[in-house]
Amino acid sequence: MNKRHLLVAGSANLDFVVRAPHVPAPGETVLGRDFATFPGGKGANQAVACARAGGAPTRMLLALGDDAFAVPLEASLRDAGVEPLIVRTPDQPTGTAFICLSDDAENAITVAPGANNALRAEHLPPLDAVSHLLLQLETPLEAVGAWATAARAAGVKVLLNAAPARSLPESLLAALDVLVVNEGELALLSGESSSVAAGLAKLYVPGVVVTLGARGCIARIDGQIHLQPAFVVQAVDTTAAGDTFCGTLAARLAQGDGIDDALRYASAASAIACTRLGAQSSIPEHGEVEAFLRDSPPFPPQAQQSLAAYCRL
Ligand code: RIB
Repeated sequence: MNKRHLLVAGSANLDFVVRAPHVPAPGETVLGRDFATFPGGKGANQAVACARAGGAPTRMLLALGDDAFAVPLEASLRDAGVEPLIVRTPDQPTGTAFICLSDDAENAITVAPGANNALRAEHLPPLDAVSHLLLQLETPLEAVGAWATAARAAGVKVLLNAAPARSLPESLLAALDVLVVNEGELALLSGESSSVAAGLAKLYVPGVVVTLGARGCIARIDGQIHLQPAFVVQAVDTTAAGDTFCGTLAARLAQGDGIDDALRYASAASAIACTRLGAQSSIPEHGEVEAFLRDSPPFPPQAQQSLAAYCRL
C-alpha cells in the first residue's frame, strides 16, 4: 500500500481565552477584557497545521467527551480537511484549556485534560497507509511511548513535539526520528542549560529541532546543523505558534521537502499564526504561506551569524 497519510495522535481542547493587560502573578487578580472560545489542543492544532500545509492527507486520533464542547473541536478538524478518528468518553468531559492572553502577546495556559487522558496504546489505528506520525505530550505518556514504538516498528517516521515539558523515558527517545522542542524543553531533556549547542550535544535522536521564539530555530539532522532566522511580524497572540511550526514541518517533510525548505516554511507559517487570535483560527492556509514567503526579503548574512552566536555553535 502507498504510505501517504500523516497521522497525528494527541489532544484536543476547547480554549477559553480572556485578554488582559498582563498575565496575573500567583495570587493576583487581573481585570481582563473580552472573552472567546477557540478550538485548540496541541494535537488538534498540529493536525490542522498539517492539513492546511497541503499535500499528504491528514488523520488524527483523539478523544472527545459526549458534550457540547466536542462539537466545535470536531467541526474545526473536519473544516481543515483532517479526518478525525474519535474515541468517545461519555464519562469524561472534552478537554479544556484556560488561557490568559496579555497585551504584549504573552500567554499562560492551564489545561484540564478530561477525555485526552482516556487515550491508550490500543487506540492506535492500523499504520499501513501512514508515512509520518506526529505526537505531543498532552496525552498519557504510556500511550505516546507505545504509539511511537509501534510506528517505528512499522517503518513510519516518528516526530515528537515534547510539549508540555516533562522528562521522557529512553525507550521513547529511541523510537523518534525527529524531536521538536523549545529551549526550556531542550534544557529539561538534555539536563544542560548552558547553551543550545550544549543541549543538542546531549540528545541522541537523529533529528532535533529547537524553536527559539522570535530568534528563529536550529536543527541538527544526522549531525548537520541548519539555522533558520525568524520572520519579523507584529505578534498579537503566540498561542499555537509552536503547534503551527510542528504541524507544517511534519507536513513539508512528508511531502519530501529538504530540511532547510521545511524549516523556512514552518517558520513562515508560525510567524503568520502569531499575527492572529486563537489557536486553530490563527493557522494559515498553504497559499498564504507561499505568498508570505514570496513577499519576504532575504535574510541578511548577519541573521544566521547572530543565531549561531546565540546557540554558541
Ligand atoms: O499550544 C497551544 C495549545 O496548548 C492551546 O490550544 C491549548 O489548548 C493547549 O493545549
